[in-house]
Amino acid sequence: MTLSVQLAQGVATDTAADALIVGVFAGQVANSEALLALEDALGGGLLSHLKTSDFDGKLEQTQDVPTFGRVKSRRLLVVGLGPKADLDAPRVRSLLAAAVRSAQSSSTKSIALALPDPAPSLRAVGEAIILGAYKFSRYFTGDRKPKAELAKVTVLVAGKVTADQKKQLETGVAIGRAVCVARDAVNEPPNELYPETLAQIAQRIAKENGFKVKVLDKKGILAAGMLLHYAVGQGSTNEPRFIHLSYVPKKKKKKVVFVGKGLTFDSGGLCIKPAAGMGEMKSDMGGAAAVLGLMAAVGVIKPDVELHVLVGAAENMPDGAAYRPADVFGSLDGKTVEIINTDAEGRLVLADALAYAVSLKPDVIVDAATLTGAALVALGKTCSAFYSTDDKLAEALEASAKDAGELFWRMPLLDELGEQLKSDVADLKHTGDRYGGSITAALFLREFVGKVPWVHCDIAGPVLAERARGAYPKGGTGHAVLTFLHFVERLAR
Ligand code: BES
Ligand code: MN
Ligand code: ZN
Repeated sequence: MTLSVQLAQGVATDTAADALIVGVFAGQVANSEALLALEDALGGGLLSHLKTSDFDGKLEQTQDVPTFGRVKSRRLLVVGLGPKADLDAPRVRSLLAAAVRSAQSSSTKSIALALPDPAPSLRAVGEAIILGAYKFSRYFTGDRKPKAELAKVTVLVAGKVTADQKKQLETGVAIGRAVCVARDAVNEPPNELYPETLAQIAQRIAKENGFKVKVLDKKGILAAGMLLHYAVGQGSTNEPRFIHLSYVPKKKKKKVVFVGKGLTFDSGGLCIKPAAGMGEMKSDMGGAAAVLGLMAAVGVIKPDVELHVLVGAAENMPDGAAYRPADVFGSLDGKTVEIINTDAEGRLVLADALAYAVSLKPDVIVDAATLTGAALVALGKTCSAFYSTDDKLAEALEASAKDAGELFWRMPLLDELGEQLKSDVADLKHTGDRYGGSITAALFLREFVGKVPWVHCDIAGPVLAERARGAYPKGGTGHAVLTFLHFVERLAR
């Protein structure tokens, strides 16, 4: 069942729902209309209870209050919104998503959400509801199967509901769903999500939004000259795919190509990874998920920007046909590459996709890839590393990440480290030494973007979360979808 989100003018006390969420600004407990109405309806005691629990509306404070049937909602969740002046879209998204997530129990079918006055961005509210309600439960059976599903969220505003508010909320809901496309793709197990089925997701997005889509299979990849991508896919019976999804509006201010690393599983190949943690490598298509999620969102926003999404999809496996260290391959760009470590497969697939991107003559290329463990060492699990050949673009990405409430930190393209990519037998080696591993990966990619202004995002950490936090659930987070969406909206301005 799909969750329905509605907007209504109303009082929290009159709204029937399994759980009622009330947002309160810092220091405003005694002035909150919703709380005062609830105080009355409950026959007193709410405000003093909040006081003895030290709840005063500070950021991220939450208080769960049973209503014992005295109001129409059985459960009340009071959420601290922090200072009134600071309630921007990222904060709304993260606070309300967390609130919706915690308001859910095995029997929650409906939630009412009482917004403070003045109401915050309803687009962010819509996003937050979908992001917070997200669950990946399709493989559960029996007792593990959720008993009830959240079917309805009613957003309550103080004033009269306007058509514009409704539109904003609907837009937010649709964007939230686009982010969940990326989450689902990351959460899917690799025996279900392999290059062919990843391509089917792209085809579905194309069909739903009227985009063009082209998919090359293994033979097609070889025929196109994407020899590095082909090499990486050699060792798996799940054959590689190259995906090209495009959105070409009538009015277009810019042409942008987004490239996603789509390794549906990365065993490391012959340079096989240790068993511990190998399963996490089902998320090695997080870059592909992000750019596909972006396209799903673009179908909603329809910006005045021509967009192309390219995904290099493959499974990196060891077998008799697998590529090996010391192999030398050509590439779509023409450069030859000496293979050093078969576990550095992502940059190979990306190199060909970037060369293909250049052939589309865009104004900007952005790539997203779960590229290096070194990015995690540098910035931790929650922040992406990004690189750019263009300061203006870097600033735009930084600002977009801020709007999205996602963590991206710019790293330097240190030319000095480029020495490490010199090969004795080919134009390039594809890895350097251990130190600066995220930087040398970026330097390798830079060899394939020609003169096109470029942003590279190493999103290895944040695509998969160990615990839920803010707008992110545990597991696939959908990281980078919103940042890229804001980036595109910025270019469309
Ligand atoms: N997919 C991995 C990077 C990765 C590591 C993503 C941890 C998420 C979490 C990538 O293909 C890889 O294996 N990179 C190697 C490169 C090395 C062999 C030069 C790495 O980072 O160890
Ligand atoms: Mn690898
Ligand atoms: Zn990988």
